[in-house]
Amino acid sequence: MILVTGATGNIGSALLRQLRAAGAGPVRALTRDPGRARAGGGIPHGVEAFGGDLARTASLEPALAGVRALFLVSRVVPRAGADAEILAVARAAGVEQVVLVSSITALTHPHLGPARENLAVERSLKESGMAWTILRPTQFASNALLWADTVRARGTVRVPYADTGLPTIHPADIASVARVALTGPGHHGRTYELTGPAPVSARQQVGAIAAALGRDVPCVETGRREAHRRLAAFFGDEAADAVLDVTGGDVNDELLKVRDTVVRITGASARTFRQWAGENAAAFR
Ligand SMILES: NC(=O)c1ccc[n+]([C@@H]2O[C@H](COP(=O)([O-])OP(=O)(O)OC[C@H]3O[C@@H](n4cnc5c(N)ncnc54)[C@H](OP(=O)(O)O)[C@@H]3O)[C@@H](O)[C@H]2O)c1
Repeated sequence: MILVTGATGNIGSALLRQLRAAGAGPVRALTRDPGRARAGGGIPHGVEAFGGDLARTASLEPALAGVRALFLVSRVVPRAGADAEILAVARAAGVEQVVLVSSITALTHPHLGPARENLAVERSLKESGMAWTILRPTQFASNALLWADTVRARGTVRVPYADTGLPTIHPADIASVARVALTGPGHHGRTYELTGPAPVSARQQVGAIAAALGRDVPCVETGRREAHRRLAAFFGDEAADAVLDVTGGDVNDELLKVRDTVVRITGASARTFRQWAGENAAAFR
């Protein structure tokens, strides 16, 4: 049995579909609200939607019963040490293998608070005694959904660092690497930095969304202060600063680098941002 956390999210929903398509055996999808997840249509036929809350480790014990491999999205619980507790419960339940979603910032910006937490989770996993694979993706294409309300309202997308090109990754490619690591040999004790196939700036992303919609979408560059105000309302001050640093304010060669990990591991080329925009155009209409 494979337990997929974040099962209703960008990576998890793609991973469920891929595991079913690959005939990977029994799969369980963890969600705080199985009824909503089933009604939303994101849980494929044959996958068991299972109620559990990563913030309450006792609720995970039934979900972990009989589980061999765990796919864990880290840091969805905004509390230091939460993921280490989840890993301890998984270990005690007999889980043998964990594929963990960390972040490329653990490599590129280890001094930032969120990246320090990623490094701490990675360490907990390595010391857990379970077989491990760590995925360190860069910025997700799906972050563009933050612009969906503005685009739907036919407003102007206002972005900081509009022309900084980062090798944004399609969440389905993170899922593909996870599927291979969960189901095939040779990935234990490995850390994979994952990127998309080419740098794409925020302005180019807005252009790709406009092309998918078949209309113009205006995009202007804002200053850091305006962007910080908007992000801090969602994520708090420190995380907002970290997001701004890693999206243009303090980038470095490691963050800008395009990597071939996706094609090496899955055998398929990494998906482009344009493909993501085409698949998700409905969210912007
Ligand atoms: N976005 C980026 O650029 C980026 C970059 C690097 C790494 N990451 C990492 O990627 C992961 C996020 O992946 P994603 O985009 O696929 O997720 P997402 O679309 O943001 O969805 C979040 C998922 O987490 C689940 N969740 C949230 N709180 C939960 C809780 N207390 N208990 C159980 N489940 C909970 C939600 O499930 P329910 O609502 O159904 O319970 C949902 O499926 C995180 O580990 C993040 O650190 C993101």
